[in-house]
Amino acid sequence: MPAMSRCRVCQHALLEFFDFERQPLSSAFVAPDGTDDEFFFRLAVGMCESCALVQLIESVPPELAHHEGYPYHSAGSSVMTKHFEETARRFIETELTGPDPFVVEIGANDGVLLHTCGEAGIRHLAVEPSGAGTVRVHRAFFDAASAAAILATDGPADVVYSANTICSVPDLRPVFEGLDVLLASDGVFVFEDPYLGEILERTAFDQIYDEHVFFFTVRAVQALAERFGFVLADVERLPVHGGQIRYTVARAGRRTPTPAVAELLAEERELGLTDMATLEAFGRKIQGIRTELVALLHRLRAEGHTIAAYGATAKSSTIANYCGIGPDLVPYVCDTTPAKHGRLTPGSHIPVRPAAVFADPYPDYALLFAWNHAEEIMAKERAFREAGGRWILYVPHVHVV
Ligand code: TYD
Repeated sequence: MPAMSRCRVCQHALLEFFDFERQPLSSAFVAPDGTDDEFFFRLAVGMCESCALVQLIESVPPELAHHEGYPYHSAGSSVMTKHFEETARRFIETELTGPDPFVVEIGANDGVLLHTCGEAGIRHLAVEPSGAGTVRVHRAFFDAASAAAILATDGPADVVYSANTICSVPDLRPVFEGLDVLLASDGVFVFEDPYLGEILERTAFDQIYDEHVFFFTVRAVQALAERFGFVLADVERLPVHGGQIRYTVARAGRRTPTPAVAELLAEERELGLTDMATLEAFGRKIQGIRTELVALLHRLRAEGHTIAAYGATAKSSTIANYCGIGPDLVPYVCDTTPAKHGRLTPGSHIPVRPAAVFADPYPDYALLFAWNHAEEIMAKERAFREAGGRWILYVPHVHVV
């Protein structure tokens, strides 16, 4: 470990503002007999003193971090499917209007976006080391070499898109080098990831885990784009995954930034989003939520209530481990993902059971780990509340509904 942690982009010092201490890999669901050799690392966050990019202090060794390539997102959410279909339609109307447009997605995200583009007759390609999904895939990480290979076979890309992936790529230089190779002169790089502003506003500290290396702001993304010869041309707030921003990046001089960029920059300044005092206050709120949530769970258990969790999300790894929530407090978590069934949540060792177990019988209280899908899940599980069940939420504060 270096004596001082440095910004992954500009190499200036990182100013640490919160330490979650020892945490496991958020996607490393363990077999019941495999808990002896779990990997733990120090999960802590800091801000670059120069470019203000908020990021993890420590990196997970690459062979452990991306053993299956880009984190493969299958949120099991109809809202997300609709989101990607709508994004595809928007690209088709705005960016993919030339005679023979070409769209590339970094990380496959179930292939919904590319599939929708394909149905409209648009050439498309996923760049994804694991090759998962149903669409055409170039099996590689996105960098200058893979971009050159794609350019040779398919020509320049009008849109390079990426959702929930760029924030998890520790070294962004190769990504921008690849964009420089592959993007058409008027092409755009569009990516969307959790927004630091939203995380702070909601105290959604569970967005901080091993796979989320960067917590972007408009200020930091603008600096990042300019550093690599690009311009931040547009920003748009998105409601998905608890609040994200979609950034549109173009080659320098090719697009005039929309007023939305200056507006959000001004809002960030006003909120003091990248002031250490704001980030330290966020840290104190995190501690407050832990105290309240743990007290509530202990009280409910002491009163004889049954509690289950809902959604074995990656982000719940931080909540469970930081708050010390294990099977003694929450005996199981229900989830729709077959690969997680029969396994234990990383570090906290809560058994994962199929979604059907939830109603058989309903617990008295359900701790909603998948709070980013709250609306969809509460609608689907209406019968739970009708039967007298109550949801426990901890975003933006601990409450029972
Ligand atoms: P996701 O939203 O990708 O969050 P993270 O990146 O933190 O893992 O994961 C959602 C998880 O919740 C996934 O394991 C599937 C599960 N889930 C359900 O069990 N039921 C549902 O109705 C939904 C929408 C998700």
